[in-house]
Amino acid sequence: MRDFEFRFPTRIVFKKGVFKKAGELISPFGEKFLLITGQRFAQEHGLVDALKEQLPGKRLIHFKGITPNPKVPEVENAVSLAREEKPDAVIALGGGSVMDAAKYVAAMALSEGSPWEYATGERKFRASLPLITIPTVPASGSEADPYAVISNPETKEKRGLYSPYFWPRLALWDPILTHSLPVKIIKDGVVDIISHALEGYISGEEAVLQNGFTEVIIKQVMEAWERVSSGYREAMEILCWASTLAISPFLSAGRGGHFVLHGIEHALSGVYDFISHGSGLAALLIPYLEVVGEKRPERVSSLTKALFDVYHWETGISEWREWMEKQGLMQTLKGLGAKDLSLVEEKAWETSRDRLESVDLTREDLRKILEKAYD
Ligand SMILES: [Fe+2]
Repeated sequence: MRDFEFRFPTRIVFKKGVFKKAGELISPFGEKFLLITGQRFAQEHGLVDALKEQLPGKRLIHFKGITPNPKVPEVENAVSLAREEKPDAVIALGGGSVMDAAKYVAAMALSEGSPWEYATGERKFRASLPLITIPTVPASGSEADPYAVISNPETKEKRGLYSPYFWPRLALWDPILTHSLPVKIIKDGVVDIISHALEGYISGEEAVLQNGFTEVIIKQVMEAWERVSSGYREAMEILCWASTLAISPFLSAGRGGHFVLHGIEHALSGVYDFISHGSGLAALLIPYLEVVGEKRPERVSSLTKALFDVYHWETGISEWREWMEKQGLMQTLKGLGAKDLSLVEEKAWETSRDRLESVDLTREDLRKILEKAYD
């Protein structure tokens, strides 16, 4: 295990029904709030009105319409509103895209320039408004992490950014809000959580505690999905907490590693904006394991041993593929509508070469992953 410093500054209130108490918990942050939501879910389920009712005497300015794979222009619009209105805090009510966009908005309200200049590392954040997250989807872990992803439709690129100013101040995790999610969204989330947990396991240094947590999280997410898909929505609470843990420093501290699979997926959904992050990962996960298994057989083997009680990595991945297919989680790039894989390959190599090489993957290996994922 390598040396590390541990920091987890987000206060998390994980409680069934906590949304009904959101006003009380948010009030101390000020008098004026900028609420960021997606296109439909929060409004259609009455969550925006319910939140307004809980904040009597406070101003709640609503910016709606953040799309999946949040884009620079829509984030810029929200940033203009934040700079004009000068709220005391930003509230993100929605899934990973909404929370990621809100992280940019909260930080950019106090900074100059455009979001893409920060995404590419040209500028660095120095401050942020307090950010409160109310996640409605268990997937990204964005409710309590320092990362945000943004897409640039002009360059067809999608970039993940770490900033210490992205840490939300407060996260209100109410699993009941997730009970009415469409199955497709839950499926995407399941694959995203599994992917977050295994990235460092495959690419990082040996760390037995962190790897043990990872094995338990992935196994429990798989079991929770089986229960949820057979109609037992109460198991959503396992997915909710797993989404926060899977990307947290509880797993990454002392282990390090890189988001290699995510690097490939970001290139994919950067080029094909209509492919959701979770669906892209669902197409790439097994091909990635098959190719990286040749470079890191001991890592992949110990993971398949923990999950399927199969030590040999190739047999283990076959079991994993079978499980994904049986559970309706498997996707193909062809089925998702991706056509030109050479552009995806080029973008992935350009933006994630370091990550790929950290697990000894070459450009040919990258091509192999994409080809295997195609059909
Ligand atoms: Fe992800």
